[in-house]
Amino acid sequence: MATREGTWAYRDAHDDFARTFFRRFGDGVASSIGVGTYLGDPTDERDDAYYEAVRTALASGVNVIDTAINYRHQRSERVVGRALSAADIDRSEAVIATKGGFVPFDGRRPADPGAFVKREYIDTGIIDRDDLVGGQHCISPDFLDEQLDRSLDNLDIETIDLYYVHNPETQLAENSREAVYDQLEASFKRLEERAAAGDINHYGVATWEAFRVPTGHEKYLSLPAVVERARAAAKAAGNTATHFRAIQLPFNVFMADAFTVEAHQGPEGQQSALWFAHEAGLDVFTSASIMQGRLAAEIPDSVEAKVEGATRAQRALNFARSAPGVTCSLVGTGSVEHASENVDTGRYEPLGADAFDAVFE
Ligand SMILES: NC(=O)c1ccc[n+]([C@@H]2O[C@H](COP(=O)([O-])OP(=O)(O)OC[C@H]3O[C@@H](n4cnc5c(N)ncnc54)[C@H](OP(=O)(O)O)[C@@H]3O)[C@@H](O)[C@H]2O)c1
Repeated sequence: MATREGTWAYRDAHDDFARTFFRRFGDGVASSIGVGTYLGDPTDERDDAYYEAVRTALASGVNVIDTAINYRHQRSERVVGRALSAADIDRSEAVIATKGGFVPFDGRRPADPGAFVKREYIDTGIIDRDDLVGGQHCISPDFLDEQLDRSLDNLDIETIDLYYVHNPETQLAENSREAVYDQLEASFKRLEERAAAGDINHYGVATWEAFRVPTGHEKYLSLPAVVERARAAAKAAGNTATHFRAIQLPFNVFMADAFTVEAHQGPEGQQSALWFAHEAGLDVFTSASIMQGRLAAEIPDSVEAKVEGATRAQRALNFARSAPGVTCSLVGTGSVEHASENVDTGRYEPLGADAFDAVFE
């Protein structure tokens, strides 16, 4: 797993980046740019491209790799595992994050997805049919437990540094908010137990809408309520402190709600997800940091003029990692060229707090 010694040694070996490129993550450090592995077809060609991209990134200053068991039908996790073991760094230097929640296929989309899910997960008792939402999403403790084992196997590692419950707001389509919090608490207890057993180092929640929408929104989840459930889970599991450490949510110049929408009750009123997380001591990992590639083609003048970077993609990525409270901005990176360009973003200074705020004035 990522360790204090390993990640600091990695930082020392890559000391030619701009201010605050490496940021505290637990007792170690993480690069503020990470490789994502979501997009792309489930093909051998795309696997090869991710393999080279991940190796390039790990060799050149990025030590955060993000994946999920369902990405490209488990192919992304498997290729991250292969690239990590081939990389010329020690395992203790890299922060490996993955997610469970969406029922994954195996290598390719089956001809009959419903029959696949029934055969592999319902008939085997891994998923109780009542816990399955939309035929594809489940966050029950037993399911996540089983998925975590598969992820360890796919990634070929002994400990996952950060394990996210993936898009829990999906459950709101068929369950009340209170029922979702209850289910999260039960799963968090299992993750606390897996943390105590050394299978994961930290856990968190990755979301698409939950934490950036207003309180009345159908997909809203309260970050303070989730944190409270994690504390209760830690206590129930007999841990002295919770291993809940991070959230993941989209953030880019067009999707800035995590900074602008105040929907989470802090000590002095409603706060944005970014501020609440910051004050609660949580790490924030941004997804869609260049808006799934769109910001490489088009970027608002307010950012174009103010943010450093040689290319649009670099300026967009540099903007995302300038947001207050962000530990790391993830960028889907499926080629060596993009890997090099994205790593080089870290050689430019991020925006200071005042300049960042000014973009929204
Ligand atoms: N709910 C969730 O939990 C959730 C949702 C979405 C994403 N995520 C995570 O966050 C990561 C980042 O989000 P994302 O991949 O959706 O979107 P993104 O990072 O905003 O954009 C990725 C896209 O941008 C392209 N790209 C990357 N670098 C580029 C460059 N320098 N110039 C031009 N184009 C470039 C990529 O192409 P290539 O692939 O060809 O390099 C890919 O098509 C994901 O990979 C995933 O790990 C999590």
